[in-house]
Amino acid sequence: MNFKQNSLFTRNTGYEEEPMESQGGVLAVWGSPSSGKTVVSVKLADYLARKRKNVLLIFADMTAPPLPCICASSDLEGEKSLGSILAATHVTENLIKKNCMFYRKNDYLSMIGMLKGENVFTYPPYDQTQAAELIEQAREVAPYVIIDCGSTIASDVLSAVALMEADTVLRLVNCDLKSISYLSSQLPLLRDNKWDADKQLKVASNVKQQEASSHIEQVLGKVAFQIPHSREVETQCLEGDMLAELGLKESRAFRKGIEKISKEVFGV
Ligand SMILES: Nc1ncnc2c1ncn2[C@@H]1O[C@H](COP(=O)(O)OP(=O)(O)O)[C@@H](O)[C@H]1O
Ligand SMILES: [Mg+2]
Repeated sequence: MNFKQNSLFTRNTGYEEEPMESQGGVLAVWGSPSSGKTVVSVKLADYLARKRKNVLLIFADMTAPPLPCICASSDLEGEKSLGSILAATHVTENLIKKNCMFYRKNDYLSMIGMLKGENVFTYPPYDQTQAAELIEQAREVAPYVIIDCGSTIASDVLSAVALMEADTVLRLVNCDLKSISYLSSQLPLLRDNKWDADKQLKVASNVKQQEASSHIEQVLGKVAFQIPHSREVETQCLEGDMLAELGLKESRAFRKGIEKISKEVFGV
């Protein structure tokens, strides 16, 4: 176990003074398939961790588990699974801490997700109780919690509960008809009393150069943020190296987009 100074488990000890404007909280990142949910979640978490903020990044997608694809397995400490947390009758703060994967290159970043080869049937069934407890207890584990959701909330309990329980939801959409059609089919599922539509922020994601701003708003309506396409990000995804620094000039607009989201959502 990695109880490192200033790391996830030593917050509130006086080492880390949070500035007044820093809000923290739980952010769920959701949207249509392949819209860039994992990219935005990972880059936001990386941005906060580089600013020495304790971040817990939860990969809720059990259909295509992202954890094995974001960095080399040798950069992660421990072989722990989200499945072991959800298999418990009750989810406690300690259980989460025991099943975190630590990122060796930055003490401020910890992750939870399914391991390579696992799926939802690898573990006993869980329901809304465990999902809600996981999110509630995650707030005790780290001041900044980012949940990378799966798209299919009709069958993905953890992602559906994350949308309900998060303080803020980023709803990612690409500027194409398939993405728009997907969201219009999913949104009716959320129209009940518990879903607070005001907490969602629409993000035009992976915006290509030919998709001019005027065109995007014409197709998507008003968006809160735009995250441009970056070839460097694309390469990092292909190489399974998504926590690497974005050094190229062409990634500047992407970095600015992530920074803007972090400022508005987390105050950092
Ligand atoms: N801003 C971006 N710049 C470049 N490529 C992107 C960007 N966002 C997404 N992609 C590409 O789209 C793919 C799918 O993104 P991902 O985050 O895995 O989608 P999701 O999690 O929504 O299914 C990535 O592997 C990458 O190639
Ligand atoms: Mg994903």
